[in-house]
Order: sequence, then structure tokens, then C-alpha cells
Amino acid sequence: STPRPLDLVIVGGTGDLAMRKLLPALYHLHGDGLLAPEARIIGVARDSLDDDGYREFSREQAQRFLGRDFRADHWETFAERLAYACVDALQSDSFATLAECLGQRPDGQRVFYLSTAPGLFSSICRNLDATGLVAPDSRVVLEKPLGHDLASSRQINDEVGRHFGEEQIYRIDHYLGKEPVQNLLALRFGNALFEPLWRREWVRDVQITVAEQVGVELRGDFYDRVGAMRDMVQNHLLQLLCIVAMEPPASINPDAVRDEKLKILRALRPFTLGDVATRSVRGQYRAGASSGQPVPGYLEEPGIAADSRTETFVALKAEINTWRWAGVPFFLRTGKRMQEKVAEIVINFRSVPHSIFGVPSSPMHANRMVIRMQPEETVDLHLLAKQPGDVMQLHPVRLNLDFAEAFRSRRLEAYERLLMDVMRGNLTLFVRRDEQEAAWRWVEPILAGWEQSGERPKPYTAGTWGPSASSALLSRDGLCWHEEI
Ligand code: BG6
Repeated sequence: STPRPLDLVIVGGTGDLAMRKLLPALYHLHGDGLLAPEARIIGVARDSLDDDGYREFSREQAQRFLGRDFRADHWETFAERLAYACVDALQSDSFATLAECLGQRPDGQRVFYLSTAPGLFSSICRNLDATGLVAPDSRVVLEKPLGHDLASSRQINDEVGRHFGEEQIYRIDHYLGKEPVQNLLALRFGNALFEPLWRREWVRDVQITVAEQVGVELRGDFYDRVGAMRDMVQNHLLQLLCIVAMEPPASINPDAVRDEKLKILRALRPFTLGDVATRSVRGQYRAGASSGQPVPGYLEEPGIAADSRTETFVALKAEINTWRWAGVPFFLRTGKRMQEKVAEIVINFRSVPHSIFGVPSSPMHANRMVIRMQPEETVDLHLLAKQPGDVMQLHPVRLNLDFAEAFRSRRLEAYERLLMDVMRGNLTLFVRRDEQEAAWRWVEPILAGWEQSGERPKPYTAGTWGPSASSALLSRDGLCWHEEI
């Protein structure tokens, strides 16, 4: 059967995410011939624009965000897909303009991408439904933040769930769309080599770092209400942890994978109040330097309350109560204004049980696997080899896989990959409701513990690796962060 024409409706179609990420992703997919010829992209927002006005606005923004990738001829053919409907999410009768636009193709497959503040999700879904726009196979894509805590995320899920079934709901965590994250699945389950070692007997600790050099930029007002735990840990870092730690799923089917991730989230050892003091660190940056330039502290950023206690850095020691992982610390760390922009997963293996070379076996020389997601996409395996020469002397070496070199084709950006999956109807890389709620259940006591402690976040200088308490978190176990080795 011929595929049905696709109508991708971006609610919040003139917003930052649409312009910064979604349209550029769709433009690339279009350029690569990956969008179906009939696929339309319908921007929906309150601004009074017509189709041409939306094309005009998008073009300006695309030039800005695509930079050198912008090609006028590609844009012309891409822009033919764009349409616009002026809708006020809170006014049900204003959805008539969207209905008219979608009504041109009653047999179309509809995808509603909600890239608005989550406070609007409920009325958008209600109004879409009341206007008769939601078909049994329509899909809805939800952007984070999905709530502020367990209760508010439940409320959003309940409200959306009144109009869309769980198998119609695509909760985006763009980290799952990153090529190296999917490569981790390939490494673990496409090879026999690693999986037997991927357990407490052979792994000493795991470190997951997502460090950014930027500060809060122009999102101060938003960020100050959220903080690093809700912005990064509850979603991206815990999803990465799940991909590292989950049992092999029976298949790559959505629920097979999501069931295994859920088991990990549920097996995370809960934080007691005492644990919050010993297993968590929160920090806030002070003035410092980034790439040699002086930068202001968090409290001086626009939109930030002068006495704000919002954390811009988090480090945690997580533990997973399963036979595979009991006793293996999973250190999670994320922050703004850190020394480097780096996202990586480090698997530290145990030292050899006995060294025959006369030197004591040291954790420094233990094998290490480093999966880098940013800035470059690489997998490094740190080994010991014999140094050339007449004596038996060992020296650390690196087996290095650079994906850009190994595969010269253009790699899809996270949003490109995820948008393709939404259009194909593949839920594997989207977060299921129960996963999301389990993640909230785990982070809530940590947030509450911080609140109760009455302490301020630990200061750290912009352009460093965070407060010294972050190193202390590992040194208590005789360990150190990857970059400190
Ligand atoms: C977003 C956060 O989810 O992820 C941002 O809201 C953060 O604060 C961003 O900067 C990081 O994503 P990436 O892909 O640039 O590492």
C-alpha cells in the first residue's frame, strides 16, 4: 500500500526549539531525500502570519541556525512543504484554522509535535480532540520538561493520556537520538566481546559525564526554576545510565527495550536523607573564565534571583541493586560553565588479579572504555602493551574508534533521527510513561534532601570541573574522575 501523506504539525512553530532544532533537522532530512515527497510541515502559533509570512520568518531563522549548511536552492524546495495556522492554544474555536489546513488531506497521517511550555499541553490536546483532529493513529510528540516532580509529570501524562493512547505518545529525550548512544547498544549487544565483562565481577565503576561550557545563556528565567537535576539528570543522564546498565533485551522492539530500562530505574538504590549528604554534590558557578574569556557568575546572569539556590552542577553516586551491578558505583555528573564541553561514558574495569611483571597492578593501569558522545564521537579502549625495547616494560595504549573516520557518511543529528522515528512510528528511542515516573521517584528525595538541608549549593569557579566536593565524592571510594587520572 502507498504510505499516507504526512502532516507534521509543530505547535509552538515560531518558538526557539522549532527554529533552532526542528526546522534545521527537517531541512537536512529533506536535503537527504528522507522526507516523503508529500510530507507537509505546519507551523502553529499565536503570531498572526500567513503561509508566506511563516516561510519568510523561517528562512531568516534557518540562515542563522544552519549557517554554512543553508543553501538557497534547497531551501526553496523545502519551504514548499511549510504551511502555517494561527491558533491560540487556549481558545478552542481558534483551532478551526488548523482544521481547515489538515482537512485538505483527511486521509493524512497526523503528527502533533508539542514544542510549547508543558503548561499548555493539556489544553492543546483537549482542543485538538474537540476539533476532531485526533485520529486513532495520530501521534503526539512531547518535549521536556515533562513536569517539575512526580505529581506534576503524572498530571501532564494523565491529561495527554485522555486524548492519546500510550502507543501514540512520543516523549523526546534527545540524548537517545545521539548516534553514539545507539552505538552503545550496538557495542554491547552486537558483539560477544564486552557483555561477559559488563558486570560487577569485572567493572569497578562507571562514570557518566555531560559537561557544558556554556552558562545559562538567555534561558535564565526558565533555568532558575529548574536547575541541573531536573534539566539533565532526571532525563538525559538517567537514560544513559539505563542504556549502560540494562540487561540484554530480547529484541530491539520498543517495549522490550523500555521494559529493561524500567527495571534499572526501579533497581536504583533510593537516597536516604543521610545519603543526600554523602552521595550527592550540588554546585553553582561563580565568575570565572570560559575559553580564556571572563564570564559572570550564575547569580549575575540575567533573569536569576540574587539569592538563588538553583544548582548548575550535580554529581551523584548511584547504585543499582541487582546481581549484575551490586556494589558498582555509577557516578553521574553534569554542569554548566565547566572546563570543557564533553559528554562521555567511562567504564573502568578492575585491575588484573595478579601481575606477573613485578609491578603492583594499579587501578591507574586498569582497562578503561571511554565512549565519547561530544565533542567527537569515539570509543577508546585503554590497554597495557609492551613498550618496544629489550626490557619487558608495559605502557598504556589506546585502541581508538573514530566514527567520523570509520563511517564517512553524514551522521544524523539527534533530532533528525528522532523525527524520522516519529514519522515511521518507531517508539524504541522514546521514553515510556512508567520510565519517566520511575526517574522522578528516584530524584525527588535528593531534591527534597537539598531543600531540607538549608545549605547553599557549593560554589565553583566557571571554567573548572565543579566544586572540590565532586572529587571528594570519588576519592572516598579511592577513585577519581576520568580526567584526573
Ligand atoms: C537540554 C537542556 O535538554 O540539553 C539544556 O535543557 C542543555 O540545558 C542541552 O544545554 C544539552 O544538549 P546537547 O545535545 O547540546 O548536549
